[in-house]
Amino acid sequence: MTDKCNLVLLYGGKSAEHEISLISAQYIFEKINKERFTIICVGIAKDGTWYFQDNPRDKDPLAIKTTPNNEVSLVSINNKPLLNFMDGSKQLPVDIVFPALHGTYGEDGTIQGLLRMVNVPFVGPDVLSTAVCMDKDIMKRLFIQSNIPTCNYKMIKRADLAALDLDDIIQTLGLPCFVKPANLGSSVGISKAKSKQTLQLAIDYAFLYDQKIIIEEAIDGREIECAVLGNEAPEASVPGEIITHHEFYSYEAKYLDEKGAELHAPANLPQTTVTEIRALAIKAFQALDCEGMARIDFFVTEKQKIYINELNTIPGFTHISMYPKMWEATGVDGDTLVNRLLDLAFEKFDRQQSLKTTFG
Ligand SMILES: Nc1ncnc2c1ncn2[C@@H]1O[C@H](COP(=O)(O)OP(=O)(O)O)[C@@H](O)[C@H]1O
Ligand SMILES: [Mg+2]
Repeated sequence: MTDKCNLVLLYGGKSAEHEISLISAQYIFEKINKERFTIICVGIAKDGTWYFQDNPRDKDPLAIKTTPNNEVSLVSINNKPLLNFMDGSKQLPVDIVFPALHGTYGEDGTIQGLLRMVNVPFVGPDVLSTAVCMDKDIMKRLFIQSNIPTCNYKMIKRADLAALDLDDIIQTLGLPCFVKPANLGSSVGISKAKSKQTLQLAIDYAFLYDQKIIIEEAIDGREIECAVLGNEAPEASVPGEIITHHEFYSYEAKYLDEKGAELHAPANLPQTTVTEIRALAIKAFQALDCEGMARIDFFVTEKQKIYINELNTIPGFTHISMYPKMWEATGVDGDTLVNRLLDLAFEKFDRQQSLKTTFG
């Protein structure tokens, strides 16, 4: 490749993980090969407005400057993706997008749908996988269908509430149990219920965040994670471990308490468990049709029984995040990782472009 590619780095966004996204984007910015790519930084404010960031640095955290004449949008003209300056001053061609966005509107298929519509290559799994992995109920149905061990759970929609039998739920799933909104992240809206009374409160609380919730049996185990990278032949990293000093890996433990959790990579596990986790991580990645990357989270009991918890399709990319940390522990440094993700995005795009879209 002789010409430099224009890479749009998208960050911020409308989710609870807006601030984490800024730190992820900063890490990604640092690692992108500047000889190959011209980085165009675009910050999405909390209200959803997109702003071109004219003076990004690779040392300070990437902040979002909301200057009115810097408003931009991504458009497609003659099937070519362009970053359009809303004041009419210019349009920049876009060769690839790195959506460093987490959670709602970031890893739930919505931004991926926009990127597909404007016909631009982008990093990470596609519309279907990101949407499915965001919905804990649908994700779990696919784990079950693929014989990937996951804990017992019950899905409840708002319309089921009137006929809900809490004794029956407690009978089936036991106490304590976890109550979660189906479509969220960062542990927002999640409670550990220890009694019938707190279960009712936990259900009401989760319904503040979603139309659909799930209740899961509690697994008494270690929290083990594994990073997957690749398209058609994905590879799994060595597993890592999250040791939380809170009752569970809550929002407080993740973001508010600096000492809320310790992240270790590699995790200290028997070799057979490591092998099993790596194989299950790849199996889950493929079962959910992921490409590019995903971080797969597990619970491992004392008896080395493994349960999958969830797949994160745009995992955290801060300097202390598990996804880059686990690759580092596997021998893949941050520069190699980020640039490999960009190559995978081009590869996936080329494969999609070569498909016929009409009959004949
Ligand atoms: N079934 C469970 N058994 C034990 N702990 C759980 C269970 N489900 C969730 N947790 C705890 O809650 C945390 C957040 O749950 P998770 O499903 O990963 O939600 P999020 O998508 O918001 O990260 C987990 O990291 C873990 O500490
Ligand atoms: Mg989680």
